[in-house]
Amino acid sequence: MHRYVIMTFLLVLLLSVSAWADKISLVSYCTSCHGTNGAGPGETIPYIGGQTKEYLATAMTEMREQTRYATLMGILAKGYNDTEIASIAESFASKAWVSSANKIDPALSAKGGEISKTCAGCHKGNSGKIPKIAGQPSGYLNKALLEYKHSLRNNNGGAAMMSGIADLQDDEIRALAEYYSGLK
Ligand code: HEC
Ligand code: HEC
Repeated sequence: MHRYVIMTFLLVLLLSVSAWADKISLVSYCTSCHGTNGAGPGETIPYIGGQTKEYLATAMTEMREQTRYATLMGILAKGYNDTEIASIAESFASKAWVSSANKIDPALSAKGGEISKTCAGCHKGNSGKIPKIAGQPSGYLNKALLEYKHSLRNNNGGAAMMSGIADLQDDEIRALAEYYSGLK
């Protein structure tokens, strides 16, 4: 009797250790580009630490299904099933958000602040499928906004973005990127 209890205990321990190790290795692969806290050094690599869980999982799934515009991630996301995506999304969402320390041009940022009134209705906070954009690297924001403008990001959630941005000039988009990046 005792032996079974001990064996069951050891089995459970082994399973939980391997699940934990899997989770660590799943996430550590991502951190090679996205940084330890989900805030990597690349100007055009999005910060994902502290991003909402729903947004991260949706983005990963869409990139895996090739229904969301991506370059590198379109290939990488293919390696993960739904359970792994849910676990990775949870792990990054639970980290504290770190805002980018990139230099912000004050004049451009002020101009972006004016234009941002049209964005504020949706981007006041961040919850569910509305991503956090304040504090993202400005290079990434600019790139993402241009992808919506040119209808490249034509995934489900992208429709709301594409309609609002079609008429903006590239310098207005740059200004919005500076503004939101500087808004911690
Ligand atoms: C080789 C570098 C690299 C690795 C490794 C990597 N990423 Fe990415 N990630 C990127 C780049 C670059 C983008 C911008 C989209 C693109 O061009 O593919 C991105 C975009 C994303 C996005 C979309 C964010 C948004 O706001 O739209 C998510 C979510 C994401 N990555 C999660 C992950 C996760 C989770 C892992 C680990 C399983 C991972 N990435 C591994 C480079 C990487
Ligand atoms: C009608 C609601 C709505 C409005 C208005 C709106 N957005 Fe968005 N925005 C969203 C949603 C939803 C997403 C997520 C889309 C997706 O999954 O691709 C998003 C995504 C983004 C992203 C991509 C974030 C990332 O991590 O890749 C940026 C940048 C952004 N919005 C900036 C703006 C700016 C700047 C404006 C004003 C010009 C604006 N948005 C107006 C709803 C909106």
